[in-house]
Amino acid sequence: MSNHYRPTWAEINLDHLWHNVLEARKAAPGKEIIPVVKANAYGHGVIPIVSFLHEKGIPIFAVSTLEESLELRNQFKDIDILMMGPILESDLKVASKHHIQITLYNLPIIDAVLKQDLPLICHLKIDTGMSRYGLVDTDDILKAIHQLSIHSQVDLRGIYTHFATSSEQDALYERQLERLMNLLDLIPNKPKMIHISNSSSIFKREQTLDFTTHVRLGISLYGLSLDNPKPDLKPVMSLKSKVVEIKSLKKGDTVGYGGTYQASENERIAILPIGYADGFIRRNKTGSIEIRDKKQKIVGIICMDATFVKVDEEVRVGDVATLFGGMITIDEVAKRLNTITYEVITQVSYRVPRVTKRSSI
Ligand SMILES: Cc1ncc(COP(=O)(O)O)c(C=O)c1O
Repeated sequence: MSNHYRPTWAEINLDHLWHNVLEARKAAPGKEIIPVVKANAYGHGVIPIVSFLHEKGIPIFAVSTLEESLELRNQFKDIDILMMGPILESDLKVASKHHIQITLYNLPIIDAVLKQDLPLICHLKIDTGMSRYGLVDTDDILKAIHQLSIHSQVDLRGIYTHFATSSEQDALYERQLERLMNLLDLIPNKPKMIHISNSSSIFKREQTLDFTTHVRLGISLYGLSLDNPKPDLKPVMSLKSKVVEIKSLKKGDTVGYGGTYQASENERIAILPIGYADGFIRRNKTGSIEIRDKKQKIVGIICMDATFVKVDEEVRVGDVATLFGGMITIDEVAKRLNTITYEVITQVSYRVPRVTKRSSI
């Protein structure tokens, strides 16, 4: 039985998700895809997303934190889990016990790993220009690889870097790539996994990279991209609600907190039971939503649990409203909010049930 009563939900289209995996595979032939499912699969619901992809044969997933790793391990005993965020020395035992593949991102954590007698699967992170996590100095890197390789309990499984930008003709991207390639030339026994591309780099450059084994697919798994022109992807999430009430306003009546919107004529105002506590933040008030294949304008101030929309004569109580992921794209909402699509989808809150849809596959 569903515990979902309020007519507000995020529809998660698994057919689209799989389409996006296949597009990434075309762009990265012969490379294994590591779906990036941190932050609750970028807001899409990590357990159903991983269940589906695992059922389709994908063996490895990447998250950021140890909590996210353990949430996955609790549900899936036989997947590989790569934790990309920083692990603390005090947490190495837990990572070892639950077979979480950890990222070694600085010298102190490498020292900590070397002095333990714990079976640990590790990926060495190289900072090639992002200045976030990872080793920079070549001598440090070569020494660490040597020490980790001869440690009887450590399995140095992978080496990776992360790009700060991925645009073609981008000088920083090229510099990062060159640094990594120069470094790899100096490593005689390379780890089994070498992975550098995120979504943008997968679609723009992976085909030209012959030294990598895996790619880390994040935003484009969910059908979104920062690139222009965009690859052929399909959005996975659409945020939906239903009209629960329609108010007939007379000229001069006001709507919502502060009475900030005043009807300039007789108007119909639909109320949707979704608000900023669901992740539909107040700055959306300048936008529109979709009902009956038409854009309808948001009016007044968005409440914690409700949004007001000025609607035409055709709209009825019970009509489905699509706030984004349909006629109104997630890109359009990101522009409206002066942010990126990553932020829009990860802000959809815990209160919104994720309802998966799967037809043809
Ligand atoms: C280390 C790392 N790899 C891969 C990704 C996936 O990036 P994208 O969502 O741009 O594909 C991320 C996301 O932030 C990341 O931090």
